[in-house]
Amino acid sequence: MKTVALTLSALALALSSFTTYASCEKGEIKAKLSHVTGGTTHPKVVASNRLAERVNSEMNGKMCLEVYPSSTLFGDSKELEALLLGDVQLLAPSLSKFGSYTRKLGVFDLPFIFQDMDHAIRFTQSPTGRELLNSMKEVGFVGLGYWMSGMKYFSANKPLITPNDANGLKFRVQTSDVAKAMISAMGASPQPMAFKEVYGALQTGVVDGQENTWSNIYTKKFFEVQDSITETNHQLLAYLFMTSQEWLDSLKPEIRQQFLEIADEVTQEANLNVKEKEAKNRSNILQADGKINTLTPEQRQQWVDVMKPVWKKFEPEIGADIIEAAAGS
Ligand code: LMR
Repeated sequence: MKTVALTLSALALALSSFTTYASCEKGEIKAKLSHVTGGTTHPKVVASNRLAERVNSEMNGKMCLEVYPSSTLFGDSKELEALLLGDVQLLAPSLSKFGSYTRKLGVFDLPFIFQDMDHAIRFTQSPTGRELLNSMKEVGFVGLGYWMSGMKYFSANKPLITPNDANGLKFRVQTSDVAKAMISAMGASPQPMAFKEVYGALQTGVVDGQENTWSNIYTKKFFEVQDSITETNHQLLAYLFMTSQEWLDSLKPEIRQQFLEIADEVTQEANLNVKEKEAKNRSNILQADGKINTLTPEQRQQWVDVMKPVWKKFEPEIGADIIEAAAGS
């Protein structure tokens, strides 16, 4: 076990800033997984590298997988198109980035719908959660599984203790209409922006704040260019680990089956360990002199009261049944 752990962390380190993982041999099916996160402790980095490690050892000679982290191959705006064009075979975008393909996944963005990570995991394993994996079938996207990341927290260039503190500020958001409505409900201004641009935008004051997990705030060093982070726990960040129907159909049945089994096991393993990774990155932020504001139950309730009305606005497009299934999981 020790040897395995050492090998994995050395591997993660080697992959932290740039690509190439496997040197594919002639005759092997070459697959690329592109994502936008970085560092060595991020749940998506760890899951992607674990997938590559298993495919490259267990499917050696049949398939090889290269992982491209930190938007080095495709950033947020291009990766979904690239998947449809066959320029990349595997992705794990945030569930907040599918608004132009389906509105149903907006359920994952509703503020305060999940009490915690366990609640979110229960929903993803429910019949409704499983069905949503295939909500973009007509487009040609296949959801292979959910990779959990963490709950989200606000950070800004001033302490945010009550929603009033956010009034008039500009917040970077993902390309999600739910997130935009939520920020507007706080009396702030939402600025959709690709992930790779966030650090620079915070540093130069293009935006005042952002919302993200401990893992993203630590590995992308957002805490360095913010006054503090507030433990709002207001929203989930999770990924759709996905491929295209076209690529899956192109694989011989036995190769497809072996790949899908590995993909499923890696997904389960990734979700088992995600809470520890988030906790570790929270303490990494504190150790690096980042500041975290905790909220009293009364203060947190003020955030709930301001943001939760957003649910009603999105009920017609997401579906009341889906919202109910998520809230009650
Ligand atoms: C973001 O854009 O903030 C996140 O979706 C990035 C990621 O993939 O964790």
